[in-house]
Amino acid sequence: MAYEREKENAAAAAIEFVEDGMTLGLGTGSTAKFFVELLAEEIADGLMVKGVPTSEDTRRLAESLGVPLLPIEHVDRIQLTVDGADEVDEKAQLIKGGGAALLREKIIANASDLMMVIADPSKQVEVLGAFPLPVEVTPFGYTITAKKVYDALRASGVSKPRIEVRNGSGSKPLVTDGGNYILDCHCSIIPDAPEAARLLSAVPGVVEHGLFIGMARTVIIGQDVGAAVIEY
Ligand code: 5RP
Repeated sequence: MAYEREKENAAAAAIEFVEDGMTLGLGTGSTAKFFVELLAEEIADGLMVKGVPTSEDTRRLAESLGVPLLPIEHVDRIQLTVDGADEVDEKAQLIKGGGAALLREKIIANASDLMMVIADPSKQVEVLGAFPLPVEVTPFGYTITAKKVYDALRASGVSKPRIEVRNGSGSKPLVTDGGNYILDCHCSIIPDAPEAARLLSAVPGVVEHGLFIGMARTVIIGQDVGAAVIEY
């Protein structure tokens, strides 16, 4: 896996922010996996925390490592969520959803006192959009929704979006943990991410999109040795 050391160093720096008694949002993806693994080691050494997983993959991982979990319905406060990102710009605006977990990731990040992003340096960009933007849509009417998503992206200033339904196994659409499909929107550049987010949220059939605007307050970029912690 590329940037393995940088991902692990970002996760290790995030562990420093964890305190006894916290309820933690547990992100999804290869960087978040390092965090869950390191957290499990701390728990084995006596740390008392509970986790709220952002996907079934993370739930299975955390359970297998003995991380105590809380069902989302029993959570009244999440002090800290630690999650990866597909892209992060200089304003801590993110593209997420490469692992198809963006809906639960956004619900849990939004419910948290602090969302912390952990990433390797390849995720830092000047302008969002090189990574295809995931948009989660209901299966019902998804071809119509895709056209409206195209219109919304165009109206936000994306010049030539190209939209693909993400495939799972075989050539069938991938089905998310929430039972929905993912449209991967190839934009190259998203010149006005807040406007794109606003317009996408208004499209009927769009359940959620992978633009996380104004949510991350701490970004940790892992380095070959150590990590850079950026506060917003
Ligand atoms: C999953 C996500 C992940 O956080 C994102 O894809 C980054 O993953 P990785 O750490 O494997 O690069 O948004 O939906």
